[in-house]
Order: sequence, then structure tokens, then C-alpha cells
Amino acid sequence: MTSEQATTKALSRRFCVAPMMDWTTPHFRYLARILSKRALLYTEMVTTGALIHGDTERFLRHDVSEYPLALQLGGSDANELAHCARLAQQFGFSEVNLNVGCPSDRVQNNMIGACLMGHPDKVAEGVSAMIEATDLPVTVKHRIGINGRESWEELCEFIETVAAAGCKTFIVHARIAVLEGLSPKENRDIPPLKYDWVYRLKQAYPHLEIIINGGIKTFGECHEHLTHTDGVMLGREAYHNPWLLAEVDAALFGEPPAVTSRHEALRAMFPFIQQELDRGVYLTHITRHIMGLFLGQPGGRQFRRHLSENANKPGSGLEVVEQALAKVREPEPSLET
Ligand SMILES: Cc1cc2nc3c(=O)[nH]c(=O)nc-3n(C[C@H](O)[C@H](O)[C@H](O)COP(=O)(O)O)c2cc1C
Repeated sequence: MTSEQATTKALSRRFCVAPMMDWTTPHFRYLARILSKRALLYTEMVTTGALIHGDTERFLRHDVSEYPLALQLGGSDANELAHCARLAQQFGFSEVNLNVGCPSDRVQNNMIGACLMGHPDKVAEGVSAMIEATDLPVTVKHRIGINGRESWEELCEFIETVAAAGCKTFIVHARIAVLEGLSPKENRDIPPLKYDWVYRLKQAYPHLEIIINGGIKTFGECHEHLTHTDGVMLGREAYHNPWLLAEVDAALFGEPPAVTSRHEALRAMFPFIQQELDRGVYLTHITRHIMGLFLGQPGGRQFRRHLSENANKPGSGLEVVEQALAKVREPEPSLET
């Protein structure tokens, strides 16, 4: 698929799967795409430094079936961001997103992530350079504030400055990030969620696309948020309970479901798993991302146990996944036509 085809393939942000380091790897994304044709998927964050000075091909590796797929960048240098936005287009991604939400110390030292909320001009400069460099949509994922800069006025100043640079889509994690004293994990749980602030943003800036993120778990919640915002982004729930994604196409797009059973979804992954094994990937690196597929199902625990105990053994192949699959009962074929 060419980059042009990728870009024009239906891209809706009504339902997005959040970027998550070590979690939204190509292996997880492959499964996610089997489960939903319409969810917009995001890569893990890649820093501009890693892309420019590291193994670019490896960092941008993905399968064409994953489209629509957004590349998330971490960085703040406008020239580097522009360069990486061009790479995103060359490699076929559907969108390029800038991370202004990650609170880790490691990234703060390099002016990456949530600390940039304190520097709206710097973000605007980066966004403007990216827009100049690519035809892809350029989006920003951010928090509602950072400690010491958490007023409504400061959030509006951030949005207005970045929007003036040409950004039309803001993905808003509805809590502040505390840059000192909380770990990244604590920063995803402890600062309270303020969904009403995200709703207010949509009211204040109706011409901007506002996607809400943080703590969303059910379709009931999605429907409620969608009455106030343009889209929802789910992270942890989509990863731990990926079968949720199988409902997206019908529940949010009125389209037929992409698959009808968990078994069918996993079997559809077999050729890809074999292809990855053939290029030397360890089975366990793939199966760790499918552990949640049978969550709450009879035999689900045995499925997970079989994979945890066997996928890491030297030479383990597809047969281990088949044995694990045999531990969960296959649903009766539907009698409905
Ligand atoms: C393991 C993990 C890794 C994450 N990595 C990133 C990342 O690379 N970039 C980013 O913008 N957010 C990252 N996040 C934050 C999520 O994208 C999301 O904003 C957050 O988890 C809140 O959404 P949720 O409550 O639906 O999980 C990460 C979250 C988790 C759990």
C-alpha cells in the first residue's frame, strides 16, 4: 500500500487505541486490527532522536494491515520533528502525533512529553514545522495541565497557541501530570479525572476536533463521552481486554463486526505469527500481547497459563498457541442466518 492509499483509507478518530510504550507494539496492533477495522491505532512513542540516529526501519516497522495507523513522536526540536514527520509519510503512516502528555523524568530531561505543556510556543513551533513537512494530519496528545500550570486559562492558552500553528485535533488525557514526585504509572491514576474540562474545551472551540482520554472502560461510557466530544481514546482497557475492540465497528460505526469469535480472531493471526517466528522473533514476545483475549472466558486462565509456561521455551512455535487455544471452548456456531 502506498502512503497515499494509507492516508486516504477511512480515518476516523471516533474510537482510538492509545499509544502505549511496550504495549502497542506491532504484535498487539495486528490483533487489534483483526478485531476492529475502524479503530484508529497509535504506535508506541518513538523519540525523534531514536528515529534520526537509531535503526529507523526497526522503529517504524509495521504491517500494512494496521492502517489507519498514527505514528506518535516524542521530541521538541522543530527541525527534527519535521524530519520525522516526513519519515512518517514515507513509511505509510496515516497521521503523525506529538506526545505532550508523558511525565517520565527521562523524557522531561530532553524536553519531551508533558513538560512541554509549560512551553506552548515550543509545541506550536514543532507543530508548524511538521505541518509544513507533511500532508499527513498532525495531532497533539496532551494533559489538561501540569503541576504549577493547571488553570483553565493556561489550558486555553496552550490550545489556542497550538491551534494557531495549524493543529486541528487535540487528544486530551483528562488529568494533569505531576512532574515531580509521581511515577508515570501514578500519573495515570492519581491526579483526578476532569472530563468536564474536556467537554468545556469542545464547547469553547467547536471548530477543533477534541478526543477524550483517561479511565474509559465501557461502550456506555464511550457513548456518553461522544455526546460531548468528537472521539474517545482507550488505553489500558483496550490492552487488557482486547475483545472490547470487536464491538467497536458495530457499536460506534454501525458496521458489521470484523470477527465473530475470539477463536476466529486468534486463528486469523496465525500466518502473521508464523511470519514473525520465521524472521527470528521469539514466540513469547508475540504472545504476551494476546494474553487478554480470553479474559473472563471459561478456560481463559488455562489459556494464559499454557502460554506463560511454554511460549518462552527455546524453539516454541505456533503449536504452543494451538494447544493454548484448545483449552478454551469454542462457541457453538450461531443458528441464526
Ligand atoms: C504501559 C503504558 C505506556 C504508555 N505509553 C504512552 C506513550 O508512549 N505515549 C503516550 O502519549 N501515552 C502513553 N501512555 C498513556 C496512554 O496513552 C493513556 O493516555 C493513559 O493510559 C490513559 O488512558 P487509559 O486510562 O484509557 O489507559 C501509556 C500508558 C500505559 C499504561
